[in-house]
Amino acid sequence: MEAILPVEGRRNVLVTSALPYVNNVPHLGNIIGCVLSADAFARYCRLRGHNVLYVCGTDEYGTATETKAMEEGCSPREICDKYHAIHKEVYEWFDISFDIFGRTSSPQQTEVCQSIFLKLLENNWLSEDTMQQLYCNSCERFLADRLVEGYCPTEGCNYDSARGDQCEKCGKLLNSTDLIDPKCKVCGSTPCVRDTDHLFLELPLLKEKLEKYIDEPYVAGSWSQNAVHATNAWLKEGLKPRCITRDLKWGVPVPHEKYKDKVFYVWFDAPIGYISITACYTPEWEKWWKNPENVELYQFMGKDNVPFHTVMFPSTLLGTGENWTLMKTISVTEYLNYESGKFSKTKGIGVFGNDAKATNIPPEVWRYYLLTNRPEASDTLFTWTDLQAKCNNELLNNLGNFINRVLSFIAKPEGTGYGSVIPVSPDLDSHTLTLSLAETVGKLIEQYIDAMDKVRLKQGLKIAMAISSEGNAYLQVSIYSSFYSLMFLLCTISIYALRISEFSKLFNGYAGE
Ligand code: MF3
Ligand code: ZN
Repeated sequence: MEAILPVEGRRNVLVTSALPYVNNVPHLGNIIGCVLSADAFARYCRLRGHNVLYVCGTDEYGTATETKAMEEGCSPREICDKYHAIHKEVYEWFDISFDIFGRTSSPQQTEVCQSIFLKLLENNWLSEDTMQQLYCNSCERFLADRLVEGYCPTEGCNYDSARGDQCEKCGKLLNSTDLIDPKCKVCGSTPCVRDTDHLFLELPLLKEKLEKYIDEPYVAGSWSQNAVHATNAWLKEGLKPRCITRDLKWGVPVPHEKYKDKVFYVWFDAPIGYISITACYTPEWEKWWKNPENVELYQFMGKDNVPFHTVMFPSTLLGTGENWTLMKTISVTEYLNYESGKFSKTKGIGVFGNDAKATNIPPEVWRYYLLTNRPEASDTLFTWTDLQAKCNNELLNNLGNFINRVLSFIAKPEGTGYGSVIPVSPDLDSHTLTLSLAETVGKLIEQYIDAMDKVRLKQGLKIAMAISSEGNAYLQVSIYSSFYSLMFLLCTISIYALRISEFSKLFNGYAGE
């Protein structure tokens, strides 16, 4: 199949969904949070006749994958292969219309990521600093914060299995070097503190460029409110240099003599995945990604991803000094909660992609339910009774009913229906009922387009359902009115019939006599 490429003079819409972490099975919250939302928008744009490319894939590098591999006793590569296939299958079942669903652990990722890094280095946007980190002598590696456990240093807490990044009991964020009596979670031995050098992206120096870029979408209002909030919070706190390297094996290697044993921090390489996945799709990927004049980039994600897409990633691209296609519109979802809590794989709470499939409820119903319940401006709640209610009251009673009535009317034999042939529409001028329907639907369609263009997907869906309600109401009234007109017709005919027979009687009478 030929690759979709931007065409001058057309609206070229590049749609991305946040790249889901590979190391788990996606749940309903993840699905509505990015891939399904982006899918609804991509489909809408295609239907409008725009030239669309929808890109997604799995985010595969980093500590989380390494840890999972250790847990399952296999290599990070094997974990990624296994879970990439699971993600792919789940999204296929949900009928997500990606143009490509790739992965970040590709040679293209290494190439694009390293070349961006080298440009940043060349342009002096990077600095070096020394950090202290726990090192396990028996495992012979630096321990990621989550791989250390010890007593919580917070006064009054003292929880005995606080993690290096956070204490689950008192909730405080920690540094692993602050833990009391730390232990390596893998082998149980006591790690020691070691110095380690890292590279930092100098966000404070890039601030001016960033603010200049952000101004435009801010003013145009093409960023969702929650995205603006999260970004402002970061900017207000003051930008700090961000560490972009890690002491890990499973990642993109840093092409720098001093740092060649380290890899890039997963949040540095992950967004570059959008670009490298496009590069796997077509060698002409630059036509999408280095073409800001002709390409509109729409990005979909959950709210915890925002600063990485509004601050980190654009700063990275701006720092290269190249002409990248930067995000025009960001659409951010809040959280979808389950019954009365949060989705959690570890606690086995919630509905996961494979569970949805096992219910035998068709994917279209799930898609409808999730979109109509999309956490667009605040968290929303998934409950089984709500799913049932919306399925019955909205899908069945409204949309299903409407479609069924129309189709069966068309199928009915002539006289009671259209005999399976849709007739040419009659002159509407005298048909006030149909005229007013056309007017109402016309207005609703205008509102629909307006909502969808602004990525208010939930509102768009509600309007589409309102069109179905109008259709139902129209059929209802037409049936009554045609019932009455039928009665009227019958009466008239009968009267005439009577008269005729009287006349003829008379006539016959005369004639007979
Ligand atoms: N993997 C991240 C998550 O699931 C999202 C990464 S988005 C990317 O939260 F753009 F950085 F890839
Ligand atoms: Zn260890």
